[in-house]
Amino acid sequence: MSKKIKRIGVLTSGGDAPGMNAAIRAVVRTGIYHGLEVFGIMRGYTGMVEDDIIPLENRSVANIIQRGGTILKTARCMEFMEYEGRKKAFDNLSKRGIDGLVIIGGDGSFRGAQIFSSEFNIPCIGLPGTIDKDIAGTDFTIGFDTAVNTAVEAIDKVRDTADAHDRLFIIEVMGRDAGYIALHSGIATGAENILIPEKKTNLNDILQSLEEKEKRKKLVNLIIVAEGDEFGANEIAGHISQRLPKLEVRVCILGHIQRGGSPTCMDRLLASRMGYHAVESLVEGRHNVFVGIVNNKMNYTALNEAVKKKQRINEDWMNIVKILAT
Ligand code: F6P
Repeated sequence: MSKKIKRIGVLTSGGDAPGMNAAIRAVVRTGIYHGLEVFGIMRGYTGMVEDDIIPLENRSVANIIQRGGTILKTARCMEFMEYEGRKKAFDNLSKRGIDGLVIIGGDGSFRGAQIFSSEFNIPCIGLPGTIDKDIAGTDFTIGFDTAVNTAVEAIDKVRDTADAHDRLFIIEVMGRDAGYIALHSGIATGAENILIPEKKTNLNDILQSLEEKEKRKKLVNLIIVAEGDEFGANEIAGHISQRLPKLEVRVCILGHIQRGGSPTCMDRLLASRMGYHAVESLVEGRHNVFVGIVNNKMNYTALNEAVKKKQRINEDWMNIVKILAT
């Protein structure tokens, strides 16, 4: 039997995602409900290494469920990648008696948690908090829905001006290694093409289909490009302008607005359910897993499995893009 946990720490790590605050709130309040002491670790693993750790009460997380960003701040911590840094972090936890951790972040943050828990035997629970949705073992990640809705709202606005001027717009959305924001927002806004890092981009196909659309005078064309696509928005625009000089082409890079803003209802629910179950897992002794939701049911994946797998792109979705964008 694993020993009873008394004090837990919660941190947010990697890129922030809307809904992280709702997750922190759920962890703190569920922890206190179970009689645990809860500590907030500032700036991700950096706060653990630098001993920037604060006690949290129910009131500390009042009025944050609707706020984007993260009250605990976040960072990508280099020192934690070395054993020396992790040892310092462990000593800082030990002196407060913190004997369980909840890590809200992406796969890089889970990798850190997995190594840390195996070296120092401290139970860790991951919560998938990333706008990229690039983690296998959960249908959605905290922040994805908000980011996609932000992208959709912006792309709809771009469509208005594209339509007014009969222009082609190449719109870049976030996702250095993952194309989910591009895929979801592209289908939802009726884009002609969606270019993502998981799929080889066939430039010739794109140019040919634009030529064909130009011939039949299709006026509004939107191409959504994930940040991590092999060409990138500007290069694609250059190729198109060269081949179709009459077409007016513009590039719009949405950037970090996709990471901010008030979380959608879906992200708040996801964060609240996951945060609650993270603490339940620690209390029940289900350790070193990350909490996901699959088919609307809680799903637990061992941290060491989570860091190996990525969500796979559904081929069906790629067909939908092709067939609907005529
Ligand atoms: O949080 C994920 C993400 O937004 C990726 O989609 C993006 O490529 C990356 O973070 C950008 O990171 P940074 O803000 O550090 O430039």
